[in-house]
Amino acid sequence: MIALREFTMDDAPALQQIYNGASLRYIERRSLTLDEAVALVANALADARSEPRARWAFGITADGNLLGMVRLRCRTERHATLSYLLREDAWGRGYATRAVAGMLHHAFTATGLMSIGARHHPDNLASGRVLLKNGFHYRGIRGGWSAYGIHRPGTGSLETTSLRGRGAMPWPPPATTPAAPG
Ligand SMILES: CC(C)(COP(=O)(O)OP(=O)(O)OC[C@H]1O[C@@H](n2cnc3c(N)ncnc32)[C@H](O)[C@@H]1OP(=O)(O)O)[C@@H](O)C(=O)NCCC(=O)NCCS
Repeated sequence: MIALREFTMDDAPALQQIYNGASLRYIERRSLTLDEAVALVANALADARSEPRARWAFGITADGNLLGMVRLRCRTERHATLSYLLREDAWGRGYATRAVAGMLHHAFTATGLMSIGARHHPDNLASGRVLLKNGFHYRGIRGGWSAYGIHRPGTGSLETTSLRGRGAMPWPPPATTPAAPG
């Protein structure tokens, strides 16, 4: 079962495994050292304590094992950007789709966010599927990246059309809820 949860300092070694290999092919990151993974977790914990909170980083777990990370970063008070990353051996099982669904549910029920943007490398078709299946609307190539957006349900026009698409997720998603909303 997939769940989202806040990080703990014990997660640094698992996070180092996530930021590795093919998972980095289409994102602007390189492999993490253990020290860098520790720093990343420490930053996530600091973000979780800040008030008002402007960043959310949740670990993606399957049956208790940490396999990925999904993040929201506020760009304004009402708008944030979404990113996600899964360990390569966890791909292709619908985990990212469910994790993004859980993060959207959190964003639009537990924060004041009204819209979320996301982007991926144009060749990263799996990432595009994850966004479209979650109701994101494709907005074209921006700055060399495939760009997407979604509004809080009931407040914009984008999700009304995109949720009709093939394979759209129900809203709100039934299965995934962050264990520790921040
Ligand atoms: C992108 C990523 C998150 C996908 O995770 P995942 O758990 O494998 O995704 P899911 O299983 O939920 O869904 C993948 C979808 O892409 C499709 N897909 C997979 N590989 C594909 C490919 N090469 N071409 C087209 N579609 C592809 C799958 O069929 C599935 O769609 P479907 O359900 O309609 O069949 C994962 O590959 C990853 O972590 N990549 C590295 C980091 C990254 O690119 N992050 C995104 C940028 S922020």
